[in-house]
Amino acid sequence: MKPSILLVEDNTATRFGFVRYFSKDGYEITEAGNLAEALVELAIRRFDIMILDINLPDGNGIDFIETVRTCDPLIPIIVITGEGDIPLAVEAMQRGADNFLTKPVDNSALAILISKTLEIGVLKQQQSARKRLEKKAGFFIGENRIMQGVHELAIAAGSSDIPVLITGETGTGKGMLARWIHQQGSRSANECVELNCSGLRGEMLSREIFGNARGAFTSADQDRKGLLDIADRGTLFLDEIGDMSIDVQAQFLKVLEDKSYRRLGDVKLLRSNFRLICATHHELDSLVSSGQFRQDLMYRINLMTIQLPPLRNRMDDLPALVTFILHSLGATITTLSDDIMEMLRDYSWPGNIRELKNVLERALLLTPNGSVLRLSHFANLAHNRIFMPNPTNQTVQQVEGAHIRAVLDEVGGDIEIAAKSLNISRATLYRRLKQI
Ligand SMILES: Nc1ncnc2c1ncn2[C@@H]1O[C@H](COP(=O)(O)OP(=O)(O)OP(=O)(O)O)[C@@H](O)[C@H]1O
Ligand SMILES: [Mg+2]
Repeated sequence: MKPSILLVEDNTATRFGFVRYFSKDGYEITEAGNLAEALVELAIRRFDIMILDINLPDGNGIDFIETVRTCDPLIPIIVITGEGDIPLAVEAMQRGADNFLTKPVDNSALAILISKTLEIGVLKQQQSARKRLEKKAGFFIGENRIMQGVHELAIAAGSSDIPVLITGETGTGKGMLARWIHQQGSRSANECVELNCSGLRGEMLSREIFGNARGAFTSADQDRKGLLDIADRGTLFLDEIGDMSIDVQAQFLKVLEDKSYRRLGDVKLLRSNFRLICATHHELDSLVSSGQFRQDLMYRINLMTIQLPPLRNRMDDLPALVTFILHSLGATITTLSDDIMEMLRDYSWPGNIRELKNVLERALLLTPNGSVLRLSHFANLAHNRIFMPNPTNQTVQQVEGAHIRAVLDEVGGDIEIAAKSLNISRATLYRRLKQI
């Protein structure tokens, strides 16, 4: 990819000379003759570097640095100041510029400065990506065989640029995996832009994706970037793509086919070089059969499909997941007693890892000093479990036994109250207790 420069300079002759010199050097240059034009360009796309003159017809370049930083905090900026105006150059650096050069500008000196500043820019991007990655480390926890397969596919997805579709029940980690894949690849220094398609319908959704021009509709008082713009050189993660309305599906398919798009109310054709990751908890095939999802779009997005297993099919990972989640919740204890683990293992986890996290979070809230977790702290789960036993590995006796234990725990071991709450006699309760 050619590095792209935004040149903000009002002198046409200077711009002309710059473009001639630097396009030979392999740069892609966009020109802006004033701050307003620069702002429009910054709103439309992402640049690798900006060269900024100070005195511009509609304002001062130094004041403009702050505005630029709100659009793109990391874009390297080189300011060009008047001859010998060092105090101004110092002020520009203090206000967030990365480098400066004084007039008259010698193109070969500027070329060196640009390549150095670009290198620093890349380092800054990598550092920020690393920080984000550190926060998101630890998706592949445990040794489960299905997850090993998922891991291999995810590594392949990370090192390629093809569209990936992640499927799996709610709470299995689809969102987390999408971010993990983004972080592995060459685009990790750029954004991973997420959009949940289930929350927005029709025009709202296309506005988010494509952006809009000023005046496209009554409340559109300014140009607005779409997520496609922001995802340029990064990843676009469309969550719950199965819920995308059929008219937006048609528009989005066109973007994938033509590799270009228009903002709502605009005629200008824009391009965005994004990598696509989609996720859904639906079976896309059945949505296609029922006419809710376009088959041609499905073929475009599912070049690689990664299916995340439900938690009940990776119970061997449960201890490792529990330890990881407790740790991430800041708990001082990171393992649970055998009776609690047994109870967690017996549950079917319809809400998967999200539910496990919620259950552990709730239990921690119930321990005043966060040091000892008891069975009673999982009372809600015991209650749920009666209605949602894991059908694959539980017998009726096991469900009954676990329920009796949970009720007893809840009432502090009082046989009388437990028998009443279970609606059986004390004698029956004693008998059952001997059997479990
Ligand atoms: N492998 C994992 N390790 C640790 N935590 C995980 C893992 N997978 C998921 N989680 C946690 O479970 C929760 C749900 O994850 P996520 O939102 O990625 O699931 P999802 O499949 O996208 O769910 P939904 O379909 O409801 O959007 C998050 O809080 C996440 O931190
Ligand atoms: Mg999700």
